[in-house]
This record gives sequence, structure tokens and C-alpha cells, in this order.
Amino acid sequence: MEVVKTRNELEERLAVLRKPGKKVGFVPTMGALHEGHLSLVRNAGKVSDVVVVSIFVNPTQFNDPSDLERYPRNLEEDIKLLKTTPCELLFAPSVKEIYPEPDKRVFDFGHLDKVMEGKHRPGHFNGVAQVVSRLFDMVKPDKAFFGQKDFQQLVIIRDLVRQMNLGTEVVACPVIRESDGLAMSSRNRLLSEKHRKSAPMIAKTLFESCNFAKNSSVADTEKFVRESIGRNKDLRLEYFQIVDGNTLQSVDSWEESNYIVGCIAVFAGEIRLIDNIVYK
Ligand code: PAF
Repeated sequence: MEVVKTRNELEERLAVLRKPGKKVGFVPTMGALHEGHLSLVRNAGKVSDVVVVSIFVNPTQFNDPSDLERYPRNLEEDIKLLKTTPCELLFAPSVKEIYPEPDKRVFDFGHLDKVMEGKHRPGHFNGVAQVVSRLFDMVKPDKAFFGQKDFQQLVIIRDLVRQMNLGTEVVACPVIRESDGLAMSSRNRLLSEKHRKSAPMIAKTLFESCNFAKNSSVADTEKFVRESIGRNKDLRLEYFQIVDGNTLQSVDSWEESNYIVGCIAVFAGEIRLIDNIVYK
């Protein structure tokens, strides 16, 4: 695996690696890699001839400066982990390399970025769109791999690719969980011992809500999740919303769509965790 830090080096290496008919798979990350990221890279390896991974903690997607500051960074460890995967080229640029000038673009995702994460983290998805469009422009991947844990991000990136006609296929990969159910996230390592113990309650509640939903309305299922999380003193619910998986519009009944997802954000102490469950 080669590590490149500049756009020029990246493009030079890709010019050699991208042989006619060969497919480039891309996994953009912010580092602090865990099994969830590695499974994206392995999925990319199964269907691509060349796998490129990027590690870049994108400042424009952090609406909270303290969140950006404490975001875990460990390039040496990440490189070790990536060497165990099919990654051939790691792009680990500086902020100046990605943003030689400030990015002033404002994207319009309509309703998609006005709800849930978009509502609680203003500007977050605009920053994600800025960096993903720049990275796609540099790597020009045939396929890009994103985890379904960031469900709303996935929907928005699909819309970005459609709007900008980027020609990259967005591949959604399943949520990877710890053995106690907690969705894997780079932020998990920031949890205190007490909050790490409480955090699996989020996934447990979502799984239980699937059973509950079989005989209950959407409104009652939302109430069930809110009340279950509310009973745990170490967790603070930010939102739980049951939405159409394509439009992210709230649904009032299970018949309203054939793709329905429940999305949740919870604070465990200072650490904000997200997760989701597909009902149908
Ligand atoms: O999901 C992430 O890790 C980031 O939002 C992404 C897609 C790498 C953009 O910075």
C-alpha cells in the first residue's frame, strides 16, 4: 500500500494504476479506522481492481469546534490496519491540499438536509458535500462505498452524485456492530466507561422497536423508543424519527412507503452517537 499526501501524487499514481477496463473503488473516511471502515474497504476490494482510501478530517463538516478538536486521529495505526485490507493507495491530504481556497459553495438538497442530522448540525451536510465532491473529482472513482450507519449522509451523497452528474456508483454497506450491538463509530473510543456500558441500549431499543412495530402504529413506535431511551439516565435522546428511506419525509403509517427507516441521535455524556433501523 502506498501513502500519498498531495493531489499531484494521487493523480500521478492513479494515472498508472487506472488501466483500461479496470475499476477504481473508493472509500472516503475521516480516519480513526475501525472494523466498520475495514469492511467497506473489503467490500470495495471484492468489486474493484484498484482500491483507494482517503483519510481526511474535514473541518467544513463540523458545526461544533470542540467536536472537530476531539475527533480521534491516529494515522500510524490507520496505516497498519489498512495494510491488512485490499487498499492499494491511501490519500491522506492536509487541509490546504483539499481547500487551497475556502470552499464557498452552497448545496441545495431540499428537504433532505433540513431534518434530523441536518436540523441538529447546521451546515454539516454542506461540508460533507464540499469534501466528497472534491475527493470524487480527484479520485474519479467508478464506485464509492459508504456505511449505512450514516443513513442520511448516504441519501444526500446519492443526491449529490445525481445533481452533479458525477458518474460514480454509490454503494451502501451494512452497519457493522460491536458484539453488544453498538454501531461501530470512531466516536465510540471517546466514550467514558460508564457511557460505553449504556451505549448498546441504543441498538437494543431499535431492535426491540422492530418487534413492537409489528402490532403498533408509527406514532406509538416512536413513543416506545423515546421512552425506552429516556429511562436510561446516562443517555439523552436528541431525536428519533421514522421516515421514508428515500425521501426522508416522516411517515404516519407503515403503509405509506415500502422503505421505512427509524433514525436516532443520542448523547452518551458529551459524545453524540447515531444509529438507525430499517423497518421495511
Ligand atoms: O462518513 C464520513 O466519515 C465522512 O462524513 C466522509 C464521508 C468521509 C466525508 O468527510
